[in-house]
Amino acid sequence: MQARNFSILTYGCQMNKYDSEQIAGILSKQSYSKTDDLSEADLILLNTCTVREKADHKVLSKLGRLRELKEKNPNLIIGVCGCIPQVQGEAFLDRSRVVDFVFGTQNIHQLSEMISEVKKGKRVARIEKEPSEALDFSGDALLRESGYQAWVSIMTGCDNFCTYCIVPYTRGRERSREPDEIINEIKILAGKGYVEVTLLGQNVNSYGSDLSSPVHFPDLLERINEISGIERIRFVTSHPKDLSDGLIEVMKDAKKVCEYLHLPLQSGADKVLGRMNRGYTRELYLEKVEKLKSAVPGISLTTDVIVGFPGESEEDFNETEKVMREVGFHFSFIFKYSPRPGTSAMSFTDTVAEAAIAERFNRLDALQKEMTLRHNEALVGKSVEVLVEGKSKTNPEMLMGRTRTNKIIIFPGSENSKGALLKVEITQAGLYSLYGRALTTKESNHAG
Ligand code: 5AD
Ligand code: SF4
Repeated sequence: MQARNFSILTYGCQMNKYDSEQIAGILSKQSYSKTDDLSEADLILLNTCTVREKADHKVLSKLGRLRELKEKNPNLIIGVCGCIPQVQGEAFLDRSRVVDFVFGTQNIHQLSEMISEVKKGKRVARIEKEPSEALDFSGDALLRESGYQAWVSIMTGCDNFCTYCIVPYTRGRERSREPDEIINEIKILAGKGYVEVTLLGQNVNSYGSDLSSPVHFPDLLERINEISGIERIRFVTSHPKDLSDGLIEVMKDAKKVCEYLHLPLQSGADKVLGRMNRGYTRELYLEKVEKLKSAVPGISLTTDVIVGFPGESEEDFNETEKVMREVGFHFSFIFKYSPRPGTSAMSFTDTVAEAAIAERFNRLDALQKEMTLRHNEALVGKSVEVLVEGKSKTNPEMLMGRTRTNKIIIFPGSENSKGALLKVEITQAGLYSLYGRALTTKESNHAG
């Protein structure tokens, strides 16, 4: 078969990154090779996100830029998949003439068929609304980006219907994978030399309740903690309302579970949380944070916050700012509210003026930067465990790795320590990364 190249541009969340690894796996079994150079590709896929309007715009402007490549190479095939086609349907084909085919989040397994049809000169749309049973979750089907860290999907979909959020419409209802299947996949990964796994789901804290023999998320974590070879366990995303005492216990006791938790707050005002349909109050959130901090010393907490949700008054916003300060997040993803067609918040008419949204965003952003820097500076002089990911992108003569608390550390060293867990002394703190020097090498680790 003729050698061909593919590129995938992935937008949005980890779930999309995981799907892209799945797509890459399918294509590499079809004599396609992966390239990051778009001008060399015979097939370009855009795996899209639609969580905010900005994400839609990014994809449309990228498609505009791909037109030139298509003019140079008329055989180039361009496909759009993921969350935009899932909500916009085949109408998306009309939005851009450069697009040859579109498919939804449940149609990945039909990729080869779609490509064959496109080659016959058709424009193709496959958007299945019902969850697909045909997806191969065995893990073997994936072409993973890294040889040391793996994303492992433990569930898909979301049942929460936060009023601003499109995800329940793009990913469908919650469906958990059988625990034995997950354990097997992770054992295979450990056998291949993977040391870190990140369990993926829109709401991992409610994992397992839909299974015929229900399982709790903390029990799954305990089982993964027993797998030899795996050294670090992370998971995203946790919903505060479903974060149980059992989970906090496991985070305390299971050695491999990292001292890190992403716990989306969204707002610190009860009125806004109610209208968002979040299912918790400010007080409950803070209570869980206190428990986490006392059970897991040194835990790094990060969050998502939306500013300018309809009806958010200045007082409501001040509450959010207060909660953020009180928790002292290590990092926050701050978003300006973006109305999404199809979500119930679209019907709220008490919108916040853009200038107020911008001002609130800037205030939170400044607060978070101050808190992040303070946390990072507190690490100077300390020694931390770093999983080496490879060369630093911003500093290619240095190595880059992450701490258990998910902080990026840049330090001198040789590339053959990729995948090793090293002790690194922190010498300098920046906002987005810290700098250090290795105290151990891959070899000294093995000897010890
Ligand atoms: N507008 C702004 N932010 C949003 N998010 C989800 N939907 C919207 C929206 N319509 C944010 C939430 C969520 C994160 C992934 O994206 O904070 O946790
Ligand atoms: Fe969206 Fe809420 Fe589900 Fe998260 S929990 S994916 S914010 S609906």
